[in-house]
Amino acid sequence: MMKVETITRQKAELLAEIADMKKSRNAAFLVHNYQIPTVQDIGDFVGDSLGLAQEAVQTDVDVIVLCGVRFMAETAKLLNPEKTVLLAEREANCPMAQMVRADDLVALKGEHPGATVVSYVNTTAATKAVTDVCCTSANAVKVVNSIAEDKRIIFTPDQHLGAYVRKMTGRDIILWPGCCPTHARITAEMVLEAKGEHPRAKVVVHPECLMEVIELADAVRSTSGMLKYCAESDAARFIIGTEKGMIYPLKKRCPDKEFWPVTQEAICPNMKLTTLESVRDALKYMQYEITIPPAVAEPARRAIERMLQIGRDSAG
Ligand code: 13P
Ligand code: SF4
Repeated sequence: MMKVETITRQKAELLAEIADMKKSRNAAFLVHNYQIPTVQDIGDFVGDSLGLAQEAVQTDVDVIVLCGVRFMAETAKLLNPEKTVLLAEREANCPMAQMVRADDLVALKGEHPGATVVSYVNTTAATKAVTDVCCTSANAVKVVNSIAEDKRIIFTPDQHLGAYVRKMTGRDIILWPGCCPTHARITAEMVLEAKGEHPRAKVVVHPECLMEVIELADAVRSTSGMLKYCAESDAARFIIGTEKGMIYPLKKRCPDKEFWPVTQEAICPNMKLTTLESVRDALKYMQYEITIPPAVAEPARRAIERMLQIGRDSAG
């Protein structure tokens, strides 16, 4: 077995190597809240999908290394066509994004002429290209509320987020039958069991959860929304219904509070692929570069920019 001092020295050397390359490449690390702790700790920005998209617009580096899943890197590239965007791990895909194909969505649009298509950012660039406006878990309700009241809405691909938005807005929404396999593992029974163990804790869940789980929650938030909610709450104990990795940034942000995941089973394997070695190799070999054909990129960018504009308009 390797000694602790050897591991510590190797990690320090790796971190120094990453820092040197980051400087020489003029790069920034954009990291999602579910990434492993060592990767979160080197992030220039750590956040949810909306925060990552907003940060991608603002950053003035030459190279963005996205530590998360592919749709996040594609979004960063769509918003920064002139920059090099690297996805630190090639196989880091969101399975939900594969649950809607652009041509199937075009066929559904044909059945509902005049409907507005709202797609969760957890989609491919090709799906975004046949979408009217994107949304994230942080702004889905606001995006849907911004659409003219007489319009029907086709919501893809997450049926659970779509059902939550339908409940919050009362709008006529056609749901696509996709879902997040990680959040689908969280059941109402698990929440009730956790509440039994920690009766005074508040329950905070992600809107990708099943409706039966959402109905048991004190708050429904995006991952960064959870950080804000728990930091600002008077409560000191929280049961968290989302990917288990979320416990790390919550503890980091609120060291005096206690957090329990609803279940240890809610792990997104794709979010766990990226390591410090992946980040080092991304910079060393300039891998894995995101490219999007212009015919797809242009309409896909419009759908994301429309979402960002709704956020700016509502911020006044
Ligand atoms: P957030 O935008 O809330 O971080 O969610 C992204 C995601 O993939 C959740 O599973
Ligand atoms: Fe996709 Fe779910 Fe993983 Fe998020 S947690 S990246 S929605 S599979």
